[in-house]
Amino acid sequence: MILTIPDVLSPQAIGELRSQLATAKWVDGKVTAGWYAKAVKHNQQLDAQQPVTTDLVKQVRQAMTAHPLFQSAVRPKRVHSIRFNRYSDGMSYGRHSDNAFMNGYRSDLSFTLFLSELDSYEGGELVIEHVDSEQAYKLRAGSVLVYPASYLHRVEPVVSGLRWAAIGWVQSQIRHASQREILFELDTARRSLFQKHGKTDEFDLITKSLSNLVRQWAE
Ligand code: NI
Repeated sequence: MILTIPDVLSPQAIGELRSQLATAKWVDGKVTAGWYAKAVKHNQQLDAQQPVTTDLVKQVRQAMTAHPLFQSAVRPKRVHSIRFNRYSDGMSYGRHSDNAFMNGYRSDLSFTLFLSELDSYEGGELVIEHVDSEQAYKLRAGSVLVYPASYLHRVEPVVSGLRWAAIGWVQSQIRHASQREILFELDTARRSLFQKHGKTDEFDLITKSLSNLVRQWAE
């Protein structure tokens, strides 16, 4: 499942975050690339050694974790390895897949939180490959794209302007995407039922089934 979550950060929060990014220290993105991804990774990353990075990482983790749609669709056990990156002047990140483990946590899902206004840069689409097609994504500042970490993907060259983003990974309580999808649909259906008809017998049964499936599948 590929999921777009709008407005994870408010325009005000984005503005403040961008002003901190503008004065922070950046380093070559290759420092955290796997040996085979180094060859295709041409971007910059916020230096992890400075205190501001710790603050910004915490802010993004809190905003993601607090979002109800993220909770329901992703069921995060741990949101981890958050980084900030910057692309300008033809920078890109060629085709790759993400490592299965980072900092001791499994990467079930990847996410990109877009931080630049759409009209402030050209290029820089995040392209996700499927078996027989591919899809390009470029979201409004403050919106997040969540996608399976197992997919091949790339960031197209930034032709003009500056593309800022926060990226990170999620170890889900539910390892298998097909099971996460069942839980997400059951949860969505029961919430809709509740809105229309209140706490009915049907709502109680779906809620019970949902909880029992989580007990069976969660790790
Ligand atoms: Ni990647």
